[in-house]
Amino acid sequence: MERIVWISGGTSGIGAGLVAAFLAAGDRVYTCGRKPSKVESLRQTHAQACAAGQLIALIGDITDEAFRQRLRTQIAGEAGRLDVLVNNAGVILSQGTLEETLEDWRRTLEIDLIAPFALVQVLFDLLECSPSASVINLSSACARQPFATCTSTCYSVAKAGLEMLTRRLALALGPKGIRVNAVAPGVVPSPMWGDAAELIEQTVARRHILKQQPVSPEDVATAVLYLAAAERVTGAILPVDAGYTLG
Ligand SMILES: NC(=O)c1ccc[n+]([C@@H]2O[C@H](COP(=O)([O-])OP(=O)(O)OC[C@H]3O[C@@H](n4cnc5c(N)ncnc54)[C@H](OP(=O)(O)O)[C@@H]3O)[C@@H](O)[C@H]2O)c1
Repeated sequence: MERIVWISGGTSGIGAGLVAAFLAAGDRVYTCGRKPSKVESLRQTHAQACAAGQLIALIGDITDEAFRQRLRTQIAGEAGRLDVLVNNAGVILSQGTLEETLEDWRRTLEIDLIAPFALVQVLFDLLECSPSASVINLSSACARQPFATCTSTCYSVAKAGLEMLTRRLALALGPKGIRVNAVAPGVVPSPMWGDAAELIEQTVARRHILKQQPVSPEDVATAVLYLAAAERVTGAILPVDAGYTLG
């Protein structure tokens, strides 16, 4: 059966990989990004899926309550249920703990932690209509260890919060038959890293990192597809980090 899937931030990096993977699995995907040019480029990449109504790429900001309500109304009207909710959109805003401003903290927590919770709340009744619903959050290796290469403290704190949110939601939604899990990627080259190619190389050069290679969006998608299908897995945080957090 075609699954109805929501992926926030599907217009670049890991999110774009997730969109492609769920489309390839034959699912119907709703996604969004803030920048219209990136949304348009995603539509062009998957023009056939868009024409067939298999991909619905929206311009929208997940921190905007009105956008979240419009999204709920659209999925309710067109699909009547939601099977997979992927909280992927995220940002790193600052460099260096003491340089971070309170505005950096507010913005990061708003996008990386509060909006994922708000999306689960607003889409909850559609998840309840699914015969096999699950939520998958994009955490990070930075959630558990204060790596020097990840300079943003507010980002690490937001992701640590997202991991506890994952487990709290798994506890709360389990009785409704809704599973909640997270993946915690290591280093995935994407627009989020900007032009930090050297930093990526340094980070993956350590001996214990598998084949000294970064993680790809496809690696993350494999784990997300697994969690979407794993009927008895809930409350799990699955590292997809090539061993990054081992040492
Ligand atoms: N890359 C890594 O090494 C890595 C490692 C661990 C975890 N992660 C996590 O994986 C997720 C994806 O990261 P990525 O590397 O793929 O980042 P990315 O390439 O920067 O993509 C982020 C996506 O989220 C969207 N987005 C950001 N803020 C948004 C908002 N307020 N409303 C709607 N859309 C928004 C962006 O669209 P616009 O630009 O149009 O806003 C874009 O589509 C994030 O949660 C990140 O923390 C990444």
